Amino acid sequence: MPSADLPSTDQPPPGRYAEAQAAAARDPEAFWLDAARAVDWTRAPTCAFDAGAGVYGRWFPDASLNACWNAVDRHVAGGRADQVAIRYDSPVTGTKRSISYAELLGAVTALAAVLAGLGVGRGDRVILYMPMVPEALFGMLACTRLGAVHSVVFGGFAANELAVRIEDAAPKVVLAASCGIEPNRVVAYKPLLDAAIAASKHKPDACLILQRPQGPARLVAGRDHDWAGAVAAAAGATVECVPVAATDPLYILYTSGTTGKPKGVVRDTGGYLVALAWSMTNLYGVAPGETYFCASDIGWVVGHSYIVYAPLLHGCTTVLYEGKPVGTPDPGALWRVVAETGAVCLFTAPTALRAIKKEDPTGACVAGHDLARFRTLFLAGERADPDSVAWAERVLGRPVIDHWWQTETGWAIAGNPVGLGLLPVKRGSACVPMPGYDVQVLDEGGRPVTAGTMGTLAIRLPLPPGCLPTLWGSDERMRASYLAAYPGWYDTSDAGIRDADGYVTVLGRTDDIINVAGHRLSTGGMEAVLAAHPDVAECAVIGIRDALKGEAPCGFVVLKAQVLRDPAEIERELVAKVRDEIGPVAAFKLALTVARLPKTRSGKILRATMKRIADHEPWTMPATIDDAGVLDEIGESLKARGIGVS
Ligand code: COA
Ligand code: AMP
Repeated sequence: MPSADLPSTDQPPPGRYAEAQAAAARDPEAFWLDAARAVDWTRAPTCAFDAGAGVYGRWFPDASLNACWNAVDRHVAGGRADQVAIRYDSPVTGTKRSISYAELLGAVTALAAVLAGLGVGRGDRVILYMPMVPEALFGMLACTRLGAVHSVVFGGFAANELAVRIEDAAPKVVLAASCGIEPNRVVAYKPLLDAAIAASKHKPDACLILQRPQGPARLVAGRDHDWAGAVAAAAGATVECVPVAATDPLYILYTSGTTGKPKGVVRDTGGYLVALAWSMTNLYGVAPGETYFCASDIGWVVGHSYIVYAPLLHGCTTVLYEGKPVGTPDPGALWRVVAETGAVCLFTAPTALRAIKKEDPTGACVAGHDLARFRTLFLAGERADPDSVAWAERVLGRPVIDHWWQTETGWAIAGNPVGLGLLPVKRGSACVPMPGYDVQVLDEGGRPVTAGTMGTLAIRLPLPPGCLPTLWGSDERMRASYLAAYPGWYDTSDAGIRDADGYVTVLGRTDDIINVAGHRLSTGGMEAVLAAHPDVAECAVIGIRDALKGEAPCGFVVLKAQVLRDPAEIERELVAKVRDEIGPVAAFKLALTVARLPKTRSGKILRATMKRIADHEPWTMPATIDDAGVLDEIGESLKARGIGVS
């Protein structure tokens, strides 16, 4: 059913989504070669897909291009030189800045000259550990200009996580800022970078450090360079865009896997740009020259795609927001930015909406902002709960669109294609598969199930352009992680259902990944940190329901028999240890010492049942349990902290 009380939208002819979906299924070659016309190529593709290449085939195998040219240079050449490319809005520093496409070109070229001077060339990796400042975008695009491969590491990760990424990507250079700014503190990035480099076997040749006045850093002689000084010296330099194969990696983005070792998702260049260009017009319904506001972070895939590459590729103005949905300074912050920038859409996470709703339940903070140009709110990162969607529809009077994606896919798997004509919104559902994605629900044997039946959400191979061709350095891990479970399919590791109208509803992960405030985290990774504490005999981490963040991690630990210390003290140490080793983004605040963990007779910890108890959901005693009393003990320990009811 369509949502009630929505303003009428200019409906294009009905069925355009169905036509696009059918065309992409019937003749993917023709569909994607047509979409490829939105991109400038140095060698245009004559073939869209080579099924014999790579792990499951490769998109645009005979083409070449440069992504920086597409995102920057061509707009300067094509009449957008004076148009604002980046609107930087930073309530945490009290700064606003508008950067035109011409200025962006100058800044990116100067930085590319600096990187080239440090020896960076095509195929070399560069890690960025930076907050939401324009220089981070300059850095990504400067790498791209040189044909180098960037890898952005989210600022909320600790030194150890950064070290793992440095070791895996083996960057020639690291670009970092001296600090990031959170509402409650200045986060000194540089000591974390120094510690990460010390811990990593791979050492970068050089680091370029952006000194921020809120927390300048000490530079390491011989390795670190001052960003501003280096760029000033390179001002006016000419650095041409280096053409790369469409199949060359544009970036690596690490995401949580089921082990502690993150997966390096590889993004190719050509297929990605083609998919993003298609999505801007057809999914988001945004035209060149309009302003696109994605309030994510460049450390996440959503930020890569819809803060940086897609809006710039499309000749839009992108908004770079260094702040939070609440507290910087109030729950009207996002609406203020929408109004001031004239953004036609906002893309954020449901958790941000819940945070705003909590502080401004009546939507009073929307009033007073001129949202005349604002058309659509897009949500992703976790399932958009129907209450939040209904609330946002009411206070904004605009369509609120949930769409489902993963770091691996780079763009939406399913969504409501506003540009092709808004389909009826079913709150709680991510709507329909995007063209190129054949999404089916599979049973345990890998057979598609009937409409309305829950199972694993899988995508029939090949994946469409934009999705990962492989994992960095390991085709084998790619196969094992995603393709082995159901031959011929990509396993999303999400569970869900499709209804009779083809709408997809995503219900949760089938692996040990949890979703905390729209951030994807591995409970396995947290368990590894807890298990390494000298007093811990065994442990289990589960995600328990959290009204604001969707899920919050909760660790249960059994102490070694001989430990006589105060358990509360050990619990505090464990909370600090996860923060130190994974980072504040893990939001790990709850460690509970218990006498025993509930296990099956074969020794498997009953995490799912523990979660049901914590979430106050009905649960049944598993027949395979070793000792039924343990689950009651778990319920009691949760109850003692005010969580769940046994
Ligand atoms: N650098 C350093 N630390 C960071 C950070 C960064 N870039 N981002 C977050 N952190 C820290 C926070 O300061 C917080 O630390 P604390 O424990 O000292 O308070 C911790 O990591 C957890 O952060 P978060 O989970 O984001 O919680 P929050 O309380 O700061 O904010 C929300 C809550 C809902 C406002 C926030 O999570 C949010 O905006 N989420 C949207 C997520 C999103 O856009 N995801 C992308 C998918 S679209
Ligand atoms: P990430 O790789 O960090 O983008 O996280 C991807 C995971 O987030 C998916 O596998 C889902 O579990 C979850 N997710 C993202 N978007 C949605 C959505 N719209 N609905 C439900 N789950 C989502």
